[in-house]
Order: sequence, then structure tokens, then C-alpha cells
Amino acid sequence: MPRHLLGIEGLSAESIEALLDLSETYIDTSRSLVKRRDVLAGRTLINIFFENSTRTRTSFEVAAKRLGADVINMEVAASSVKKGETLLDTAMTLNAMLPDALVVRHQESGAVSLLAQKVNCAVINAGDGQHEHPTQALLDALTIRRRKGTLRGLVVAICGDILHSRVARSNIHLLNIMGASVRVVGPATLIPTDIDRLGVEVHHSMRTGLRDADIVMMLRLQTERMSGSFVPSTSEYFRFFGLDQEKLKVAKPGALVMHPGPMNRGVEIDSAVADDLKRSVINEQVEMGVAVRMACLDALMGGRRNSVAGVV
Ligand code: CP
Repeated sequence: MPRHLLGIEGLSAESIEALLDLSETYIDTSRSLVKRRDVLAGRTLINIFFENSTRTRTSFEVAAKRLGADVINMEVAASSVKKGETLLDTAMTLNAMLPDALVVRHQESGAVSLLAQKVNCAVINAGDGQHEHPTQALLDALTIRRRKGTLRGLVVAICGDILHSRVARSNIHLLNIMGASVRVVGPATLIPTDIDRLGVEVHHSMRTGLRDADIVMMLRLQTERMSGSFVPSTSEYFRFFGLDQEKLKVAKPGALVMHPGPMNRGVEIDSAVADDLKRSVINEQVEMGVAVRMACLDALMGGRRNSVAGVV
């Protein structure tokens, strides 16, 4: 039976460490002149993105091609979804073409797990609604581990629209599993009502939330998931919750600034911080995304399941 990567919740610390260790080897591959390994030669991956993406979709394609796999990007807008075909019928149709993996992004929480029950191949969740975005949390963890040596004991402040963010949920799960302390920072309107269940400290002020933090992770306002008004205006939001050099001063002197992208400059982050290469690791996160996705594809499609037991 194939296995899947549907979320971080439920993974063990050992499985996460094993995936990060495997990702390290693929950083070297990507930095080589010849960026090609034949680990997945002859395998087929289909990307199905029902929501827009730059980083995730492209990096899954780059990752799979660097491992020798054939990649098909299904264009949802040009597909029979537009004629009324359901998600599950679409999945079963693609499954009949015998791919080895489907990488799926969907706007509904839980849709990717549902789809995974209907197909024979491996399924990777590339972001489902407000639920999880597991490969984003893994690439964030790899970025942090390479810069700080470990995740254990670090104070990580995740700031902004926590309510609508699958990135926040996956990161909270992963950071808790790996022994970091997690703070969420944002206006009460953008903090989930069930936040107590997630094992985090809640702050409604950047001054207290960022104090002595090792990592400051900024999130954009996910307006596409909002019905109604959650902040008075973007300029007011930036004044209280946008990261600038002044607000960053209360974090630890070597604190890293992270953002999963896409950024909305002047809304949740000031350009002077985003582009400050002494603090910002935003481009590094993108590079780590390719390595992490190579590791995940290898673990799921490359016959390596025994050596990263329990990953999926
Ligand atoms: N971080 C992230 O998921 O970016 P994309 O939406 O561009 O894939």
C-alpha cells in the first residue's frame, strides 16, 4: 500500500529528523553543476493545484525532475473540472493513468486526505484550506536547523493571520514536536478560537510577542479566505503588526526573519527587513523547499520507505 504525506500532525521527531537529514544531501545535489540524480527515473508525478502557487508547484516540479521523474502539471483551469467533474472523479481519472504520486493543493481543508483514500499512488498535501502545508513546515525547519544547529529550545514567534494559515498550523505542530517554544502574535480577530489546544503562547502585541525571540516568522493576510473585515485597514494593521526594524529590536540580536511567501510588502513586512540579508532568510527558505521536496518524493516514491520509517 502506498503511503502519503498529508500533514505534520502525528509525525514523530525521528521521522522529521530523518527527512531533514535526507534533505541535506539534496542541498548538495542542487548546488552541483549537474543537478541530476536518477533516484526516481521512470516514475511519474502529477501536480494538481486548485489554488494558485509559485513556490510550491514549481519546486515540486524542479525537485521531481532533479530526481529523474517525469512530471505532468494538470492545468485545473483548462481541465474537465470546469465542466463539473468532481475532485474525486478527477483524482480517480488521473489514478487510472498509473502515476506514482499526486501532489495536490486544494482550497478545502481535508480535501487532500479524502482524495488520498481513493487512489493507489502516494499523495502529498501541497496545502489544503486552513488545515496543513507540511512541506512548508519541513523547509522552514531545515532553514532554522541549518542556521541555529537545532530547533530544540528555540523561541519562535509566528506573527499575523494565524486563523487562516495552514503554514502556521503545520509549523506549530512541527515546532512543538521538535521541542521549540511557539508564540503566536496577532490581533484577536486573527487568532483561532481553539488556539489553547495547539500548545502555544498567545500575544496581541509585537513588543511582548517578539521579546527575546530566536525566530520571527511573518504571515500574510489571507484575504482569499476572509469573508468580512478582520482588520480596520492594511495601513493600521502594518502600524501594529507589520514587522519593521523598530519592532524587530526586541527580538534576540541574531534573530532570523522568515516568511513563507508570497509577501505583501508594507502590509505584514517592511521591505527594509525583508531585504536585510543579515536577518532575512526568505530566499534561503525557497532554496530549502526544493531539497525538502526532493527528500519527500524520494521517501514516498523511491523505495526508501524503510529507512525513513513512519515518515508518512
Ligand atoms: N509558501 C507557499 O506555499 O507559496 P506558494 O503559494 O507560492 O506555493
